[in-house]
Amino acid sequence: MKNIKIDAASLNQEFYQISPRILESFPKFRMPVNLYLFKENIASLQPLYKKETRLQEEERENIINLAKEGVVFVSRDDHPIYSKHISKQLDLILVDKNLTPTEIIDILKLAIPEKILEFYEQPVKPAWEQLKEDVLVLLEYVRQDPYRLKGLLKNLFTQTSEDLTKHTYNAGIIGLSILLNMSREFKEKEIIFITLGLFSYELGFYRIPKFIREKKSNLTPEEQQKLFNHPTTSANIMRKLDIREEPLLNCHLEHHEFLDGSGYPRKLSGQELSTAGRICSLANFSAELLAQGIQPIQLIEVLPSQSKKLDSKAYTGLLNILTDTFVK
Ligand SMILES: [Fe+2]
Repeated sequence: MKNIKIDAASLNQEFYQISPRILESFPKFRMPVNLYLFKENIASLQPLYKKETRLQEEERENIINLAKEGVVFVSRDDHPIYSKHISKQLDLILVDKNLTPTEIIDILKLAIPEKILEFYEQPVKPAWEQLKEDVLVLLEYVRQDPYRLKGLLKNLFTQTSEDLTKHTYNAGIIGLSILLNMSREFKEKEIIFITLGLFSYELGFYRIPKFIREKKSNLTPEEQQKLFNHPTTSANIMRKLDIREEPLLNCHLEHHEFLDGSGYPRKLSGQELSTAGRICSLANFSAELLAQGIQPIQLIEVLPSQSKKLDSKAYTGLLNILTDTFVK
């Protein structure tokens, strides 16, 4: 690590100013990134700390105090490590003013599917609490500035057919766009629980043994039944965890139901579908199309042809957002 001459303009492009909260969240005696001190009078960055070296208590305090003055920087070359760290403490994206929107999107795409996977693999209360915490950070993040949803929509995962957690993430972002567009119709609690449902609804599908999930034909009647019932299985597991909020469970139960009665497992139609279920069904349907290789912009043409199946308010709203994001 040596002194780096830098002008103020390129400083923020090549380095992050690191907030004391992030430093405090690092392991106590070893930080995972190189740190630099910005000396304004000589326009240069001096090495302050070499990553993974042992820190004394006073050194650590000194670094944190300097960060409070706004003069501690981390190189954007350390972005992968930095992102990974923030993805473990996602609420940091709400306080860190130095991350660019693209960097935040990367962090969210790392953190949310990881938490979904942990919960799908082990549907226990601590994993649920972790997922819930991160999804609520995401909700807060997009509500602070609705423009952020467009960034997330533009950066959905492609090729999700093999990956149920990325598929759930895509559906979650699409569902969130529909939900927030209709948010005046919901109470705050409903918004929260529908959002949580949107980011967890394929739990039941994930719990089906992989060899059955991936079998394309020759399913035994028993295996077929398992696939068919996965929305119910999903809701049952949630209930066992004592998660019983209706909008959330309806998201799980109804994500394959369609308004014209052509869905499953209960073949609900019209008024029998809940609002949460309609949003989740549209979100899942759209994410499935993306998994088949359809581009988000093409949804604008494809969705209207399925209008009998879909809730008109929800899907008109979605079309407006997609047009706003991809066409205008
Ligand atoms: Fe499903």
